[in-house]
Amino acid sequence: MTGRTIGFVGLGSMGRGMAGSLLRAGHTVRVWNRSPGPVAAMVAEGAEAADSLAEVFAADTVVSMLANDTAVERLLDPALLAGAAATLHVNMATVSVALAERAEERYAEHGIGYVAAPVLGRPPVAAEGRLNILVAGAPELLERAEPLFAAMGERTWHFGVSPRQANTAKISANFLIACAIESMAEACSLAEAHGVRPTDLVEMLSGTLFPGPIHSGYGSMVAERRYEPAGFRLPLGLKDVGLALEAGAARNVPLPFGSVLRDAFLDALAHGDGDKDWAAVAAVARRRAGLPD
Ligand SMILES: NC(=O)c1ccc[n+]([C@@H]2O[C@H](COP(=O)([O-])OP(=O)(O)OC[C@H]3O[C@@H](n4cnc5c(N)ncnc54)[C@H](OP(=O)(O)O)[C@@H]3O)[C@@H](O)[C@H]2O)c1
Repeated sequence: MTGRTIGFVGLGSMGRGMAGSLLRAGHTVRVWNRSPGPVAAMVAEGAEAADSLAEVFAADTVVSMLANDTAVERLLDPALLAGAAATLHVNMATVSVALAERAEERYAEHGIGYVAAPVLGRPPVAAEGRLNILVAGAPELLERAEPLFAAMGERTWHFGVSPRQANTAKISANFLIACAIESMAEACSLAEAHGVRPTDLVEMLSGTLFPGPIHSGYGSMVAERRYEPAGFRLPLGLKDVGLALEAGAARNVPLPFGSVLRDAFLDALAHGDGDKDWAAVAAVARRRAGLPD
């Protein structure tokens, strides 16, 4: 697929780095974004600007990295798909299982392949082309997309033949990260209330029982109360917890921790922390414990 023209939709914090990785791999990348600023920046890096989504869907393969279900809905427009030359759409956003099912069906009606490929990794990881990419879809479509995954990520993880399976895996992973942040916040509040320094607790835990990027990375942010700059904004965290609750409800899977997390994120938003990293949910646990901000 090297040297093919790729249509790319969504040049946010993640998308601009991913489009850059495709450019570096030698693809022609035709970009579209709702607001024009990021398009101009990508054109300066060598991308082509598309004036409309129709121009993006004139490319054989479309990759999208939009914020949420609402944003992705516009890529399901029957008029857009009816006029498309594209034969494959790779949706890399974190979206609901229900949207993945609807998208697969809609694309099939128009004879266009659809695969889900949500990612693990922050914007700097995206910019370096080192994402972990969670994929699901028809094997022949995934094979066509693999050179693109290789350009944007360091490893591709397969979860099945239905796109929704990759979305389920991603939603489960983010649910677990949110649980880890919340539990570290509660443990740090407990420690501090008894005169133990949270930074000492997290250093011990991440060097012994809980090594790994989540407990050490978010653990330090929680212990130091360092919630800015936001790597992953709190409203996106609330969205992902909501996606887990919704996916659970669809199969009668109770997620009691999910309900606690939802309220904790709403509490954080109500207290004005919407522009902070989702680690700021730790401030809610501190307030409950009567600890100072
Ligand atoms: N940030 C992370 O650490 C991270 C990590 C893994 C996965 N993700 C997932 O990756 C996806 C993108 O995240 P991000 O951090 O890149 O988000 P972001 O910086 O907020 O960018 C969102 C993108 O979606 C576009 N958009 C939003 N609403 C739209 C609408 N109604 N119509 C059309 N376009 C719309 C934005 O356009 P404008 O530029 O015009 O606003 C922008 O291009 C999300 O699903 C997120 O959950 C993020």
